[in-house]
Amino acid sequence: MNIQWYPGHMAKAKRNIREDLKLVDLVIEVVDARCPESSRNPDVDSFAKDKSRILLLNKADLADKRITQKFADYYAKKGFYTMEIDARNKGSLKKLPNLIEEACQPVIEKNLKKGIKTPSIRAMVLGIPNVGKSTFINSYVGRSMAKTGNKPGVTRGNQWINVGKRLQLLDTPGITWPKFEREIVGLNLALIGSINDQIINIDELVFYLLKYLVRYYPSALIERYGDTLSGIDEAIRVFDEIGKKRGCIKKGGDIDYSKTAKIILDDFRNGRLGKITLEHTPGSTDDVVASVADALK
Ligand code: G4P
Repeated sequence: MNIQWYPGHMAKAKRNIREDLKLVDLVIEVVDARCPESSRNPDVDSFAKDKSRILLLNKADLADKRITQKFADYYAKKGFYTMEIDARNKGSLKKLPNLIEEACQPVIEKNLKKGIKTPSIRAMVLGIPNVGKSTFINSYVGRSMAKTGNKPGVTRGNQWINVGKRLQLLDTPGITWPKFEREIVGLNLALIGSINDQIINIDELVFYLLKYLVRYYPSALIERYGDTLSGIDEAIRVFDEIGKKRGCIKKGGDIDYSKTAKIILDDFRNGRLGKITLEHTPGSTDDVVASVADALK
């Protein structure tokens, strides 16, 4: 299943983002900790090359902690300032002001050398749809949130938000990119709800998810759907078994896969299958490419 999703309004939003990037010192990219590589927009790497970068691994509460830690280390080595967060929980953002200061230190020092004091840091918040960008901004900015309206130089659609005296955030609309090079990226983004469900074959998507879970998280399936799944290593049989258990049976007695798929997808998205990560750090023996090749066999 080759999923692609880049509606026209995103191309326009991307042009605005590129334009407004000239105004900021720092880029804060929000990704989904369940698939950080898939949910990182590769366009950002090309157009924010010369900016300080923070990568927020959001929804860490839904992800496999061990793998999230590996991703955090992986991105730190690549020069990102990273933090695992649950954007709904303000406590998880406590260390962010320090991280922002630290990430902007080079800019502040560069300005000082030129005799310029940096009165406040300007940061752009980026992320693909549904990674929790709005939730993050609301939690971080809280009640003090003050939208400052369209300032000269800021394209319409993007929005400055003052956070105390020291920080100005530029909110941007969630965008994807023109082509997902690898099939797994489309699948992962569909699983985390970043792609419009209307264009997806949910039955096939969930069949893929089950293949992945049978291989990497069999105990999560047993815990959620019962001991009868124990020892079953064929995704289609798991699909059948869950359908039967949940009473998703059509008139003639066949399994109603669409109904079953919706239940499983909903369980995954809401964390009822436990903490699950859909990919591994690139280069690790269990990396993303190997996993999809196996899982899709
Ligand atoms: P976006 O701006 O990037 O598009 O995402 P948004 O903040 O709208 O968040 C998308 C969904 O993800 C929301 O759930 C939100 O509550 C949830 N979410 C955001 N951050 C986290 C997190 O760290 N952990 C978990 N578990 N969930 C998070 P929703 O069901 O679409 O809406 P709602 O019913 O919660 O309002």
